[in-house]
Amino acid sequence: MDTFLAIASRREVRSYSGEPISDEVVHTILEAGRVAGSGVNRQPWRFVVVRSRQLLDDLATTVYAPHNLLGAELFVAIVVGDGRIQTFDAGRAAQNMMLAGWNAGVGSCPNGFQDDGRAAKLLGLDDPSSLFVGLSFGYPARPRRPEQRTAEAWLTRAKRLPLDELVLAWL
Ligand SMILES: Cc1cc2nc3c(=O)[nH]c(=O)nc-3n(C[C@H](O)[C@H](O)[C@H](O)COP(=O)(O)O)c2cc1C
Repeated sequence: MDTFLAIASRREVRSYSGEPISDEVVHTILEAGRVAGSGVNRQPWRFVVVRSRQLLDDLATTVYAPHNLLGAELFVAIVVGDGRIQTFDAGRAAQNMMLAGWNAGVGSCPNGFQDDGRAAKLLGLDDPSSLFVGLSFGYPARPRRPEQRTAEAWLTRAKRLPLDELVLAWL
């Protein structure tokens, strides 16, 4: 898929079909996270990869939107230290993974934790505050076809602030 079409057409996908995600696609998603750039190339992120149905269901009780995990085939918890640069870096890795998934037809959604203590325990982590966000992945329940519109048409439909509100100044 064209890179800009992937960026413009991607929206969060929260309902999944249940179709398994192959090892190869999971690997591609993780490689996309691994290759993200980071401040001074510190690569401050670590990933906990969950594919076990039981654990996905257990983790569903720890996020704000349990439905996102109950149907997901893959969950990647992103673990990172404190600080603006590190969270920025983790965001870059997260978006890379979600776009790589989208390129393979896999939808995704970021998930915040309402019970990060229990989530950390389930994920085998000592420090709940290191849990930045978790990404749920799965093939969309309602098939999405990025190629059905141009990138420009996807941009027009996006519920986002217009550029003239976002750009504070052209200097
Ligand atoms: C850090 C972060 C946490 C989020 N947490 C949740 C969440 O807990 N549950 C959820 O369904 N969506 C979550 N989202 C997704 C946002 O709601 C979503 O990006 C926004 O509404 C735009 O959605 P769209 O791309 O489908 O238009 C989160 C997004 C971010 C960046």
